[in-house]
Amino acid sequence: MGRVQDKVVFITGAARGQGRAHALRLAGEGADIIAVDICEDIASNSYPLARQEDLAETAKLVEKLGRRIVTRKADVRDPAALRAAVAEGVAEFGRLDAVVAQAGISPLGPEQSAQAFLDAVTVDFNGVVHAVDAALPHLPDGGVIVATGSLAGLASATTDNPALGPGGLGYSFAKRTVASFVHDLATVLAPRRIRVNAVHPGNCNTDMLNSDAMYRAFRPDLTDPTREDALVSFPATSAMGNPYVEPEDVADAVLFLISDESRWVTGAQLRVDSGGYLRKRPQLPTF
Ligand SMILES: NC(=O)c1ccc[n+]([C@@H]2O[C@H](COP(=O)([O-])OP(=O)(O)OC[C@H]3O[C@@H](n4cnc5c(N)ncnc54)[C@H](O)[C@@H]3O)[C@@H](O)[C@H]2O)c1
Repeated sequence: MGRVQDKVVFITGAARGQGRAHALRLAGEGADIIAVDICEDIASNSYPLARQEDLAETAKLVEKLGRRIVTRKADVRDPAALRAAVAEGVAEFGRLDAVVAQAGISPLGPEQSAQAFLDAVTVDFNGVVHAVDAALPHLPDGGVIVATGSLAGLASATTDNPALGPGGLGYSFAKRTVASFVHDLATVLAPRRIRVNAVHPGNCNTDMLNSDAMYRAFRPDLTDPTREDALVSFPATSAMGNPYVEPEDVADAVLFLISDESRWVTGAQLRVDSGGYLRKRPQLPTF
């Protein structure tokens, strides 16, 4: 028996990065997956998003683990597309137990317009609401909702730095709002024992972090920094000296939150940030 044996989990942004890691970790523990991804770029986001082949690769890897997967190309800004994808997945698998709302963009750059602010908010926050909205009618009592926030939503002096442009502000705003949404939604759904939790990664070793805009954010002293240059500064957001966590580290947290091991855990803001929050928000010495 796996830790999430025969559960069906809907994951947004599952073509690569953390979304793919969640799909594989959950499938490895017995889950079937409904996976969506935009599979095309968003103009304000300077690094490319996933492609249809990436989503197909996630599907191949899940099936290699002996589990089933339904994939759909869908933009989390489009509630109807998400509802259709979930409905098709539920028709195939007969049930839905959990949703991981985690598709995201990070449209950083001082050259960006206000559109970058709106894109960050509509993908990184509205997209979470739309994923929950699509899943909720199918979730039984005892179902699970996990949303991905960020250290950037919990602490200031991260992407809210004006030098990172309106998209950075939008990213922080969206992630802060995800944390708040999770808190209040957990309260609303507790009577049905539907658990709602957030995971908040610090730097994570995916395409979002490994992008030119992010290298510039970490090395504002250089005009054209490389990954090697940025690696020196990545540990600034960690208390443990590591430059980043791996997608699989976040997937372990997501697996715990979807499994019955966390059956009385709801409203949690689970940081997978190498203590980055501790550096940014030291507690007042009240003890
Ligand atoms: N990488 C980091 O350092 C980091 C840190 C904290 C939080 N996060 C968050 O983790 C989550 C996963 O990001 P990642 O690190 O795996 O980056 P990633 O860029 O590798 O993956 C994001 C995925 O979401 C998809 N996506 C983007 N916009 C979409 C949309 N509108 N509709 C559907 N799919 C869309 C992309 O195509 C991609 O497959 C995001 O919410 C991100 O904000 C990342």
